[in-house]
Amino acid sequence: MYHCVKHGSSQVRLDSSMKKILIIANWKSNKNEKEAWEWLSYFESEMHPESVEGKEIIICPSFPLLPVVKSFIKSHGAKIRIGAQDISSFNKGAYTGEVNGNQIKEYAEYVLIGHSERRKELGESDELLEKKVGQALESELKPIFCVEDKNTFIPQNIRLVAYEPVFAVNSGNPDTPKNANTVAEKIKRNHAIEYVMYGGSVTGKNVHSFTQMPHVNGVLVGRASLDPKEFIEIIKHV
Ligand code: PGA
Repeated sequence: MYHCVKHGSSQVRLDSSMKKILIIANWKSNKNEKEAWEWLSYFESEMHPESVEGKEIIICPSFPLLPVVKSFIKSHGAKIRIGAQDISSFNKGAYTGEVNGNQIKEYAEYVLIGHSERRKELGESDELLEKKVGQALESELKPIFCVEDKNTFIPQNIRLVAYEPVFAVNSGNPDTPKNANTVAEKIKRNHAIEYVMYGGSVTGKNVHSFTQMPHVNGVLVGRASLDPKEFIEIIKHV
């Protein structure tokens, strides 16, 4: 199935049938090593390989758990990708408490940047987020840039966007699939963006209503990703 997406004055042809659906678990500030290992063990034993076909499963744990998830994947041959939840806006050096792109790169392939919780609770500005994106790209990490609406500033060279309206995050009150699709379509039209995921109160029950939309290429899941059973339900029903 082809969608024609207008980009500038030219028509860009996207073959959506060749695209993978991205299903991203954002564990936020949850889980210790034991809990992460238990989650992964349950997931690996219950997830049937055919349910992940055509889907890219990305787990974003907090920094101390990155080596734990990596080591689990290595020892079990699990088909899971790793993302970090943040990145320093600086390169290596005298920046106490910061975790830089080259350190993250040892464990992760993706990195979330611009999550609304960091914008709100930590006052992250567009300028800072642009620097973080620069650091991620320099370290050859794939930034997943979170936006709150169609007008949120998106730095250059971003290919993956997560549309997460603030009212829907961690509230049990998701956006409508129709609106998510409209916003995703606008983002793709205004930028050279290939993938737009929807995030905000996604569950096994509502996931399909979002992923069936032509411009929604996956989901970013917070609360419902903490329980591996529920996360498997989401993957199955995409
Ligand atoms: P939620 O969080 O699924 O708990 O709403 C989504 C997110 O913040 O990434």
